[in-house]
Amino acid sequence: VHSYLEESIRPYIDLIDTLRSVGIQKDLALPTIAVIGDQSSGKSSVLEALSGVALPRGSGIVTRCPLELRLKKVTGGVKWKAVLSYRKRRIEFVDSSLVAGPIKASKLASGKVANLTHDEKKFEFGDPSLVEEHVEAAQNELAGKGVGICDELITLEVMSPDVCDLTLIDLPGIARVPIKGQPEDIGNQIKRLIMKFVEKPETINLVVVPCNTDIATTEALKMAQEVDPEGKRTVAILTKPDLIDKGTERNIVDIVHNKVIPLHKGYVIVKCRGQQQIDENIPLEEAKQMERDFFQNHDYFRCLLNEDKATIKCLAVKLTQNLVDHIKKSLPQLNEQITKLLWDVKTELKECEGGPPNDPRGAKQFLTETLKRFSDQIKSLSSGELVIKENL
Ligand code: GDP
Ligand code: NA
Ligand code: MG
Repeated sequence: VHSYLEESIRPYIDLIDTLRSVGIQKDLALPTIAVIGDQSSGKSSVLEALSGVALPRGSGIVTRCPLELRLKKVTGGVKWKAVLSYRKRRIEFVDSSLVAGPIKASKLASGKVANLTHDEKKFEFGDPSLVEEHVEAAQNELAGKGVGICDELITLEVMSPDVCDLTLIDLPGIARVPIKGQPEDIGNQIKRLIMKFVEKPETINLVVVPCNTDIATTEALKMAQEVDPEGKRTVAILTKPDLIDKGTERNIVDIVHNKVIPLHKGYVIVKCRGQQQIDENIPLEEAKQMERDFFQNHDYFRCLLNEDKATIKCLAVKLTQNLVDHIKKSLPQLNEQITKLLWDVKTELKECEGGPPNDPRGAKQFLTETLKRFSDQIKSLSSGELVIKENL
């Protein structure tokens, strides 16, 4: 079953990742899975368990920029490799007299002009324990040190034989009350940032909700329902089943059985490492076994294991399948968009006259003439006459 699944989904995921890597998302919206929820609901823990990648985690606001986690299953010797990349906005102050042409520039009060450019940053590393450090450094650079947020995307590509093919986006958790150093409207800022991702019809929204809270009042679920009323692209994940209030077990089972707040794509319940297990350095593999044992030995939740509605592993399979279904559905639309873009570009190209003719002889002659014109220009430039001839 596993290898069949892999073979059938691989081409779709690869296609999307390839399109993404050439920057096509600027023109086309591509399918992604976004993880949303309240602060400390367990989002990073779920991502960590799915990916095997230890992400920055803790109480309070830890995720301050959207983090795109691209997991790629690789075979053939590669043990573990990651590439972290992001674009740092750079504002360059220049003398206004030096600025020519329609470059992106804005006049500042000082009378100077600022150019907005982007520095591409890229770090490759082979040690999984360095992820946290790199992500934190990137966040500090983009959002500043402290408690601010930023909507620039950080991309972390992880290649390993031990991951499943998924691309996920971790978002800052929803906060209600600003803490010291945060602006009054931090809650709205975060919601706006989350909205940018979850409102896209191509995004699968993964709503993370702890078992020990009132699920009906969960802000993240409300946001997901707002942008996806039919629940066609919303999956809910219940976390912290070990911290459940005694007596509410039956209610949780009803929720997972889709009887309370019905969601088209339903619920999965997972147990991740608690703070103590993290402090004790319990490895993820062991935690997975403990998760299985937990559900196996639970009087109320055992049935959910047998129904494929419990554990991280079940979630991974479900998510991958969901993503593939989603991509399959998006393909005709992608095709349409690409055809239109291509047509636009071809029309524009037609307007640029003087390109090389199609036949080899004509093309050769065109090239010779172009080179001669170029050579003439160089000659006249080097002989001191500054004559700008027609553009090549
Ligand atoms: P985030 O803010 O949503 O990313 O939440 P985190 O993943 O950082 O988790 C917040 C805290 O909850 C951490 O101390 C985790 O160890 C803990 N936690 C997450 N999932 C579980 C769980 O299933 N059971 C228990 N007991 N603790 C969990
Ligand atoms: Na947190
Ligand atoms: Mg987090």
